[in-house]
Amino acid sequence: MKWLPGCVNNMDTKVITCMEEDDKACLTEAGRILQSGGLVAFPTETVYGLGGDALNPASSRKIYAAKGRPSDNPLIVHICRFEDIYRLVSDDPEHKEKLAAAKKLADAFWPGPLTMILPKSEDVPFETTGGLHTVAIRFPSHKTALALIAAAGGYVAAPSANASGRPSPTLAKYVLEDMQGRIDMVVDGGEVGIGLESTIVDLTVEPAEILRPGYVTEEMLREVLGKVETDRTVLDGSSGQIPKAPGMKYRHYAPKGQLTVVSGEPETVISYVNKQIEQAKAAGKKTGVIAAEETRKDYRADVCKSVGSRQDELSAAKLLYRILREFDEENVEIIFAEAFESTGLGQALMNRLLKAAGHHIINV
Ligand code: TXA
Ligand code: MG
Repeated sequence: MKWLPGCVNNMDTKVITCMEEDDKACLTEAGRILQSGGLVAFPTETVYGLGGDALNPASSRKIYAAKGRPSDNPLIVHICRFEDIYRLVSDDPEHKEKLAAAKKLADAFWPGPLTMILPKSEDVPFETTGGLHTVAIRFPSHKTALALIAAAGGYVAAPSANASGRPSPTLAKYVLEDMQGRIDMVVDGGEVGIGLESTIVDLTVEPAEILRPGYVTEEMLREVLGKVETDRTVLDGSSGQIPKAPGMKYRHYAPKGQLTVVSGEPETVISYVNKQIEQAKAAGKKTGVIAAEETRKDYRADVCKSVGSRQDELSAAKLLYRILREFDEENVEIIFAEAFESTGLGQALMNRLLKAAGHHIINV
């Protein structure tokens, strides 16, 4: 892995194991590291996070350096009790309704894979919010994450624990692949549950707007808030608009090989992709396919990977980032992926896949 000039890569990264069911005494040292300004990666129910003290500007600067992340890309502040949002959110009475909406959503979805954007208080440093006057807040449900946040003093800034531009880590070994030598500690909690990052909903606009789709879908948010919109750049790369979540404008989750999403009737997709694969093979390229279990065997690529049954979106969510990383490990140069249905959790899957493909999609 190549690092930005000026970044250190020579720390001793300690790895500890702490499963959800384990005694949380193992997190005392991790909490101390965070309280003293260090960085600890930890599991959440979505993906691994790279934690630092959210109220300490120096910690946030370290997070950006460790990830090689542009400093205009704000971090999510993780809490372990709902009432802790009051320290993070502006107490200006004009924001009362936004807080009321946050409370409603929290009652329905927290702790869980939902991040809310609200106007920030003065306690949240601009280093954490990438210079914005708003703050992203998440109350995760993962037991180890909650215990770590409590041990750290209650406010942990954590982007996904990947190097900027790589797929988010779903296993501790992928955190180490990107972060070894660059952070103080990794808490290994095994494989994450969901595998795609949290849904981000912006409550500072009316109606509320989804900036990043995730496990909590537009339909689920609508049931609580009534009207909810989705940033149209989520699935449409040709709109010419800039995504409203700063992080969504960068090419993310990108494998090293060239990835193309192919959409259409299964038979047509299979014959199109196989033709392309033959050409790529003739040109001496190593080829790969990401397909549903039902169609995986129909492809003639060097490496064919299944995301699970077409009906099982949860399986696809859990496997997608791992598969993208495996294609890198296996040096696959040309990759084709079947498209997902873009409703429900499929919208989040399609959003991540399209970003990984730089919005390169072919309709056949
Ligand atoms: O599931 C998750 O959310 C994981 C785990 C670790 O909790 N975290 C995560 O963080 O995905 P990160 O930094 O990889 O993605 C945060 C996204 C970025 O796209 C960022 O631009 C956006 O949230 N964001 C953060 N604060 C924002 C704000 N104030 N306004 C708009 N977008 C914001
Ligand atoms: Mg990320």
